Amino acid sequence: MEGLRLVVLALVVVFGYSDQHRAGPLPLVIWHGMGDSCCNPFSMGAIKKMVEQQIPGIYVLSLKIGNTIAEDMENSFFFNVNKQLDIVCEQLAKDPRLQNGYNGMGFSQGGQFLRAVVQKCPSPPMKNLISIGGQHQGVYGFPRCPGESSHICDWIRETLNVGAYTKVVQEHLVQAEYWHDPLNEAHYRNGSIFLADINQERSINESYKRNLQSLEKFVMVKFLKDSMVDPADSEWFGFYKPGQSKVTMTLQESSLYTEDRLGLREMDKAGKLVFLAADGDHLSFTDKWFNENILPFLN
Ligand SMILES: *[C@@H]1O[C@H](CO)[C@@H](O)[C@H](O)[C@H]1NC(C)=O
Ligand SMILES: *[C@@H]1O[C@H](CO)[C@@H](O)[C@H](O)[C@H]1NC(C)=O
Repeated sequence: MEGLRLVVLALVVVFGYSDQHRAGPLPLVIWHGMGDSCCNPFSMGAIKKMVEQQIPGIYVLSLKIGNTIAEDMENSFFFNVNKQLDIVCEQLAKDPRLQNGYNGMGFSQGGQFLRAVVQKCPSPPMKNLISIGGQHQGVYGFPRCPGESSHICDWIRETLNVGAYTKVVQEHLVQAEYWHDPLNEAHYRNGSIFLADINQERSINESYKRNLQSLEKFVMVKFLKDSMVDPADSEWFGFYKPGQSKVTMTLQESSLYTEDRLGLREMDKAGKLVFLAADGDHLSFTDKWFNENILPFLN
C-alpha cells in the first residue's frame, strides 16, 4: 500500500513536470542598463530577437520603466531604484505568463537591480539570474559613459563628487544609489539607500539571504577589457579593499563572503555561482559567445 502511494506520487511528480514542459520554455525577463531602454533595436531589442530565434516559443519580457522609451531611458538615471523595484515586482507578480517561474538577465546596472528583485520579491520565482556586466559591489568612478549620454555623465560625476550620500542625491540619482566609496566605507554603509541595503551592510535581512539562495544558478559575466566600470572586479562581486582605491579583492576575500552575510559562500560551495569572462569592453560580445556561454542557462 505504502509502495503504491509512492508510485502514484512519483507519477504525479513526473507528469507535473512534463506538463510544465509542454507549456513551453521558461520565460526570460531582461533589465537594461544605464541610458538604454527596453526596446532599442541595437541593444535589448536585438538580444530579445536573438533569444526568441534560439528558443522558439519563449516569452521574453524586456522591462520598460515608464510609459515611453524616452522615459525609460531617463528613469535609468533619475528614478529612485527602490521605487523602480516596487513597480517591477508588481508587474512580475501580475503577469500570468511568469507564474511558473522565469529566468532573469540583467545588463550592467540591470544586473544588480534584478538581484534585488530576487532578494525582495520571491514570487514568482526566478530560476537563474544572469548578470552581464552588473556591478554587485557598486562603482567608484564613471571613466566612460555609453552612447550619447556623455553630457549627463559629466553632470553625474560632479554631483557624486559633491555629495553622493546626501539624502537628496540618493533619492534622485540612480548611480548614487550604487556609488561605493572605498575611502569612506562608513558613509557608504550608512548613506546608500540601495546597494548597502541589498548587500546587508547595515543589518542582515534573513529573507534576502534565503531568497537569493533559492536561485539555481547566479551567473556573473565580467568583461576583461571593461573601460566603463570602475572597478571591473565588481562584475564578479569583488571591489577595492577598504581604505584605498588601487588594490582590489575578490568576492571570496571580502567580509561579505567570509561572514556569509548574503549566503554567497554557501552558494559558492554548492556550485551555484558561475563566474564567466568575456574578452571585450563593457557589454560587447558576439552572438557566438552569447549562444555558447549564456544560452545554456536559459533553458
Ligand atoms: C526584509 O526585506 C523584506 C523585503 O524587502 C521586507 O519586507 C522586510 O521588512 C525586511 N525585513 C527587515 C527586518 O528589515
Ligand atoms: C546616516 O544617514 C542618515 C540619513 O541619511 C543621516 O541623517 C546621518 O547624518 C548619517 N550619519 C552618518 C554618521 O553619516
